[in-house]
Amino acid sequence: MGRIDREKGLKEMVALEAVKMIRDGAIVGLGTGSTVAPAIVELGRKVRQEGLDIIGIPTSYQSAMIARENGIITRTLDDVSKIDISIDGADEVDPDKNLIKGRGAAHTREKIVDCWAELFVVVIDESKLVGHLGEKFPVPVEVLPFALQPVMKKLQGLGSNPVLRMGVKKDGPIITDQGNMVIDVRFPEIKDPKALEVQLNNIPGVVENGLFAGLAHLVLVGTADEGGKPTVRRID
Ligand code: 5RP
Repeated sequence: MGRIDREKGLKEMVALEAVKMIRDGAIVGLGTGSTVAPAIVELGRKVRQEGLDIIGIPTSYQSAMIARENGIITRTLDDVSKIDISIDGADEVDPDKNLIKGRGAAHTREKIVDCWAELFVVVIDESKLVGHLGEKFPVPVEVLPFALQPVMKKLQGLGSNPVLRMGVKKDGPIITDQGNMVIDVRFPEIKDPKALEVQLNNIPGVVENGLFAGLAHLVLVGTADEGGKPTVRRID
């Protein structure tokens, strides 16, 4: 089995495991990305076949569309007073369960929804585990288009290497679901994720950044045991 197929299989396995944690009557935060997508599909199957009464709070157009295609009723944060459980992916997870998110540019809504959840469950395959945040991925920073140049300069002043994210199959920069732009920021080293998360959000014009420090309650990792059998490891 190739690496891509293996990662896809692990993502599906961990997604199904997370859905087992969702109780009938739950209000569920629906994260974004390729690991959460099969979880939303499976949740839809349970709604249709087992009659589960579920309300989904999508974090992106992507998760809203998958939810609706699969028969899950969706609402916004205006309609609910709590979120019971949120299931979301991540690009990097460090040993303290701090995350980098936002490869799909959905980190702003994801952070709002995930931080409101009584239980925030992260679903990843083993390739996402890192010793230190920033090893593989830059930190995505969503920025108001009006503030793009000043924010770029402030980020350079922090000793980072900021790059405006460009579209694929779209000319020019990507535009988020909120109508903003995303700057991918590489730091030589991220020693204190919480301090950097706050520092980035303090720059005027920054909407939100992809550091999620101290938010995750549980990480489910799709991996293989010593015999090579696929298994789900929990990081509590
Ligand atoms: C989107 C995200 C995703 O959750 C993150 O990029 C993980 O995606 P995938 O499960 O496809 O690897 O933060 O903004």
